[in-house]
Amino acid sequence: MGGIHRFFIMTFSNLDHRAKGILVNTHDNPIQIPQNPELVLYSCHSITRVSKLSFLSSPTTSLCFQEPLTMGKCYPTVSEEYKKAIDKAKRKLRGFIAEKACAPLMLRIAWHSAGTYDSKTKTGGPFGTMKLAAEQSHGANAGLDIAVRLLEPIKQQFPILSYADFYQLAGVVAVEITGGPDVPFHPGREDKPEPPPEGRLPDATKGNDHLRCVFGKTMGLSDQDIVALSGGHTLGRCHKERSGFEGPWTPNPLIFDNSYFTVLLSGKYDGLLMLPTDTALLSDPVFRPLVEKYAADEDAFFADYAAAHQRLSELGFAEA
Ligand code: HEM
Repeated sequence: MGGIHRFFIMTFSNLDHRAKGILVNTHDNPIQIPQNPELVLYSCHSITRVSKLSFLSSPTTSLCFQEPLTMGKCYPTVSEEYKKAIDKAKRKLRGFIAEKACAPLMLRIAWHSAGTYDSKTKTGGPFGTMKLAAEQSHGANAGLDIAVRLLEPIKQQFPILSYADFYQLAGVVAVEITGGPDVPFHPGREDKPEPPPEGRLPDATKGNDHLRCVFGKTMGLSDQDIVALSGGHTLGRCHKERSGFEGPWTPNPLIFDNSYFTVLLSGKYDGLLMLPTDTALLSDPVFRPLVEKYAADEDAFFADYAAAHQRLSELGFAEA
């Protein structure tokens, strides 16, 4: 088992199913997991052996290994002139997105551009193809032609920039100017000529297996990334004519905060909307504790969201 692994130990102590103690040997250090952990998330290099995995009673206790995490990215080198253009475009985008109050649409175009990445075939992903009519016409992208049109006059001012970088920059700025965390941005994506095949983005009517399939198996992201990124629905709303759904997730859809999670947990959705893929998070033993954590602790949400958004936006960059 090479690479970095993350793993969870979960017990539900109110049901009196107690872990007796687990020893996980790693190349870093052996980790002795305390008795009766509630929910613990550990990271380590290369797990070599798991021993003493004994439980008084096990049905509600689980040890879940996740796929190896990536060690980091190999960022392309860009010229000083390119870096300057990024900084200037960022400033223009701040003013423009604030003036048009279009942060939600900008976040959605960035996410729908990146979310088509297939880690096995290394196709799709944030490579500027959303500017093509063919990709805009995918059912899941209804309404994103508006985002492309809105962004075009600013893009014209920066011919040096790739569309790939520009759309991802718009997503990062959208989060920043609505009060969300600063998501690190690295330039250097190149535009690809062909759009990805239709059907890679998640279907809002489905459940957790589907989310794990799309985000985990295909994109290569983690369970924690799924929950943190779902918090992107703190911004914006559904439009009947675009998705068939109608309404915002929170009472303040132009503010990036943790209200998506507080509303989701409260179960009170009057005048608001939760998609089946949103409420599904509540019924999963790994997802739900993260929803609870983010509802209780906005700083924790912002930290995990920024990391997950960065990973999403960097799909397709070579691994270091
Ligand atoms: C978990 C799987 C997801 C599903 C099934 C999903 C589905 C949807 C749907 C159906 C809409 C409504 C589109 C419309 O009618 O205008 C929407 C909007 C939106 N989504 Fe998601 N989404 C998912 C994940 C994400 C992620 C990861 C992000 C960003 C990190 C995101 C950001 C947004 C935003 C900002 C909007 C509002 C757009 C607007 O107000 O125009 N979504 N999503």
